[in-house]
Amino acid sequence: MSRVALVTGGSRGIGAAISKALQAAGYTVVANYAGNDEAAAKFTEETGIKTHKWSVADYDACAAGIARIEEEVGPIDVLVNNAGITRDAPFHKMTREQWNEVIDTNLSGIFNMTHPLWAKMRERRFGRIVNISSINGQKGQFGQANYSAAKAGDLGFTKALAQEGARANITVNAICPGYIATEMVMAVPEKVRESIIGQIPVGRLGEPEEIARCVVFLVSDEAGFITGSTMTANGGQYLT
Ligand code: CAA
Repeated sequence: MSRVALVTGGSRGIGAAISKALQAAGYTVVANYAGNDEAAAKFTEETGIKTHKWSVADYDACAAGIARIEEEVGPIDVLVNNAGITRDAPFHKMTREQWNEVIDTNLSGIFNMTHPLWAKMRERRFGRIVNISSINGQKGQFGQANYSAAKAGDLGFTKALAQEGARANITVNAICPGYIATEMVMAVPEKVRESIIGQIPVGRLGEPEEIARCVVFLVSDEAGFITGSTMTANGGQYLT
């Protein structure tokens, strides 16, 4: 029987590429999404991957969504915490709402998704968790005090949980994508985006599939010795 993988924010952008790559690698994939019904319906039509709608910022909705998926397809072996939002503003203009929305989704969201699954992964003595952080959690970014704080928090969470999961054969890793050609990056003002591309040694934005391939490797049996790690995929823009 194939393993079951759940990808949050899995119907668009990097998440859609991850869902498709896991499906191609033989997993039974289910995607979560929060807002865009039209994109989710189109994604399911194209891929056959079922989508479930809830916000990862809502703990009870996460627990209920996970229970529903497990009833339909069985226990979840692989969790990819990919869902994320931006509310960019220089700090002097940043509102409490912009701070809270980003922390609730990008940081608390990975707690909300992982916590209801954790006991079951421990019981079954297998699990693969991949948290999609960001280059901006590593280096910080002007206009992203909220996002950088959340994404740096995701890395601390990854390292702590990796230590707790190791004995139960659960690996927990993070990927830090650089600037990838998705709607999120295309929403950055063009002049700013051009200047960012100028800082990427490979001279281009990344492709979502380049991140998806990292996920497929980290969740494989072959990657069982890799846990608590941060995989950097940023075209050389920031070297840790
Ligand atoms: N360093 C220093 N100064 C900067 C700067 C930077 N990186 N970026 C902007 N500034 C300056 C501007 O030049 C401007 O200076 P002046 O007033 O002297 O002209 C000042 O900061 C403020 O600019 P604005 O008044 O235009 O500010 P704004 O309210 O329009 O907002 C911003 C600016 C929202 C931060 C905008 O610059 C922006 O969107 N920047 C991009 C942020 C970014 O990289 N986001 C990543 C999104 S993609 C993502 O998050 C995915 C991922 O993981 C990589």
